[in-house]
Amino acid sequence: MERFDDAWLTLREPIDHRARASALTDRLSQAWSAAGWSRVVDLGSGTGSNLRFLDGRLAEVEEWTLVEQDPDHVARLRAVSPTSGRVDVQTRDLASSAVEGVWSAHLVTASALLDLVSKSWLETLVGACADAGAAALFVLSYDGQVGWERASGTGSLEASALDTLVLDAVNSDQQRDKGFGPALGSLAGVTAERLFRAAGYRTWLEPSPWRLAATEAALVRRLVAGWQEVAASVEPNQVSELARWADDRVRSLAAGHVTVEVGHVDLLALPPGNR
Ligand SMILES: C[S@@+](CC[C@H](N)C(=O)[O-])C[C@H]1O[C@@H](n2cnc3c(N)ncnc32)[C@H](O)[C@@H]1O
Repeated sequence: MERFDDAWLTLREPIDHRARASALTDRLSQAWSAAGWSRVVDLGSGTGSNLRFLDGRLAEVEEWTLVEQDPDHVARLRAVSPTSGRVDVQTRDLASSAVEGVWSAHLVTASALLDLVSKSWLETLVGACADAGAAALFVLSYDGQVGWERASGTGSLEASALDTLVLDAVNSDQQRDKGFGPALGSLAGVTAERLFRAAGYRTWLEPSPWRLAATEAALVRRLVAGWQEVAASVEPNQVSELARWADDRVRSLAAGHVTVEVGHVDLLALPPGNR
């Protein structure tokens, strides 16, 4: 099982909330109220970030079903207390338990989950949403783009050979099996949009990049350390160059000399017949 520790989820939550494509939330909120929807299922809930974002933005939620397999996160989810609606926390492995658990939902949502899943799992999920006539909101799927920029606003840093090596290694690692079969990684957002359209849904796919500067240095430190580790496993003969690269990038960012943008996409899919 792929673990995402509490500290990491806590670090990313405000950045995720800021990055989300607000136009999609607005459109969903209108459709939600117009249809009189009331039940949300959140897949791979972590510690509840997606609920905390949607709470108050969707009118009169009656039920939040939170599905999560990590027992540490489940313990925190049990303490989540939204402004409206009861919370049902389900400890389940989404990869092995049927996603048809979404039947009773008006909205099926997930934050930072879709890039972990396989195409066949996603096809089953989209089919289950379509059978239920449920809307879908899948946010913060990594899209394979990372860009370092000069903080002075004088443009992008030219990608070095190490930048390219790291990005290729990371994007290939994104496709590693995370428990659902070969992962979609950076193709998750566009693949989900295509599947929902084929099922007759109206869809909106919007960028939701992380824009990270010195104030986010703690998250960047962890992110770059992870990238360094992945790249070093692909190119063990460049371990020391990669360590220097990582150190330089983190120091430059913390000192305010560079920023980094990490691409994500948000997808909203509204079922046929919904206005
Ligand atoms: C990147 S985290 C995102 C968590 C949360 N949605 C957020 O936005 O902070 C992915 C979450 O999916 C959960 N997850 C991954 N695979 C899962 C599976 N097979 N069944 C249930 N949950 C899973 C992880 O435990 C983790 O909490």
